[in-house]
Amino acid sequence: MCGIFGLISQELVSSSDVLKSLKHLEYRGYDSYGIATDTGLFEKDVGEIKLTSSNNCNIAISQTRWATHGGVTKENAHPHHDCTGNVLIVHNGIIENYMEIKENLQTLGHKFQSETDSEVIAHYFEEGIKAQNVEETISDFFNEAKGTFSVLLFIKGSDRLYAFKRDSPLVIGIGNRGFFIASDPYAFSQLTQDVVFLEDDEYAVLTKSRFSIFDKSGKELSRGKNKIELQKEESRGKYEHFMLKEIHEQPESAEKLLESLETRQKENLLAIADAIKNSQKAIFVASGTSYYASLLGVYFLKKAGIESQAIIASEFKDYANCNEALVIALSQSGETMDVIDALKHAKQGSARIASFVNVPYSTIQRMSDLSLQTEAGQEICVASTKSFSNQIILLLTIAKELGYKINLRKIAGEIKSVFALENGIRTLAHGLKDKHDIYIIGRGLSYPVSREIALKLKEISYIHAEGMMGGELKHGTLALIEKDTPVIALIDNNESIVSNVREAQARGARIIALTNRKEKLFEEEIKIAAESDAGFAILATIVGQLLAYYIAKEKGLPIDKPRNLSKSVTVL
Ligand code: F6R
Repeated sequence: MCGIFGLISQELVSSSDVLKSLKHLEYRGYDSYGIATDTGLFEKDVGEIKLTSSNNCNIAISQTRWATHGGVTKENAHPHHDCTGNVLIVHNGIIENYMEIKENLQTLGHKFQSETDSEVIAHYFEEGIKAQNVEETISDFFNEAKGTFSVLLFIKGSDRLYAFKRDSPLVIGIGNRGFFIASDPYAFSQLTQDVVFLEDDEYAVLTKSRFSIFDKSGKELSRGKNKIELQKEESRGKYEHFMLKEIHEQPESAEKLLESLETRQKENLLAIADAIKNSQKAIFVASGTSYYASLLGVYFLKKAGIESQAIIASEFKDYANCNEALVIALSQSGETMDVIDALKHAKQGSARIASFVNVPYSTIQRMSDLSLQTEAGQEICVASTKSFSNQIILLLTIAKELGYKINLRKIAGEIKSVFALENGIRTLAHGLKDKHDIYIIGRGLSYPVSREIALKLKEISYIHAEGMMGGELKHGTLALIEKDTPVIALIDNNESIVSNVREAQARGARIIALTNRKEKLFEEEIKIAAESDAGFAILATIVGQLLAYYIAKEKGLPIDKPRNLSKSVTVL
């Protein structure tokens, strides 16, 4: 994971402005950060980025970290340097064979200061440039390093900034008086809209007035620029947390998506529906929340008479046979490495790639033959909320094109009706905050919803939660049900779910029914005003989002940036 940001400028830039840009990448990792400049600043710290730095520079590199190798310490924070302190680097990714490289360098006398894989890069270049230039050393590095990396490097006293990448993203922003380079364009979207994406195994050499891109053997490449428009979300408005704001944005984001699918995205929508209809098989691939949305995709397509399957991205290679398939990736960030890896695998065969992504210009979108935007707007809170409901709406619209009967015209209004329940959800959260385990059960289309609610409870409220198929309780998990164990039961029109809930109730479980049925079934009920099953899936999820939010708030947890996580998961 991690976010990296650098710049090279004809004008002096203040280091606090560099950190301001880096701050836009903090959702990629936020355990520590650091900055180095050509004017001698070398500053790092644990925790979130503080903007107090004061130094003027023409070249800067900076990084916000999500630890992989080595704990969260100042020593392990980036930038790293070589023995002389002259070669400075920031890195995003994992150098898998770093131990081998490190041991070689140690035999040559190199001393290391951190436990990271990244530090070897600085020492590797210190050694390399003794005998050749930086560009030649980059080519050697491409040949020797295994793993994923995007690296920014500069050498004290030089007027060049170098960047090279494999698998981790890097994009150059073209400014009026210089260049920016970052893990994604959000870092500099307020400064320029003109960008150039680096592809795998390419490097860039940037000076204050120009930049050139080369393949790993040193052959110069020509690359056109793209113009991007990114809607950057800066403020929480009246909300205490981005999570609550993003939950409340769902009616508007749903409408925005539906509108775009009738206009700007109509052609792509029809093309994807057509590709699904004409493919020998359709396979969804995704991680986490997006995977649960793709399970719903399988359900909706089945209703439209189309067989498909959903495979979790990290296991895709071992479970998917994607010859002649249409592989459909779902991803909020468009940068999830497990998904990218699965797509690379699919591309090696004869699969076509379609994707539904929220972040425009992301790697997954650029890898796809066909793509639709989920149009949820920027999501800042690490936990996905509005992007999940828009993924569902997008899947429903496609299923509708293929014959599924669904009316989505009222969905925004139905979503709004959930907010009237907020006080009750808050009271429930108060009662559940000290529980160690919560079970959520559903059947049919409520099963993926149960998994999604459980994920929200785990990541935001730090409560162990299990979302499962109601019918599976009796096959083992029922042994864990004791007196007052909370079981949130998702009761839509599926007939069998009520029997499963009764089985848990008979063992002493405290049943909290989340239902759109008119009749009263259980003592404790949250009634949601969903007219269709698909609407139930969306509304029940939002109740789950609010429940996780209010439990976390009761517990005083860091809701927007939960411990150990990051929004964009760019490691395997
Ligand atoms: C949970 C969450 C994660 C992501 C997962 C995939 O709230 O946000 O589980 O859903 O990391 O991310 P994307 O959708 O960006 O591919």
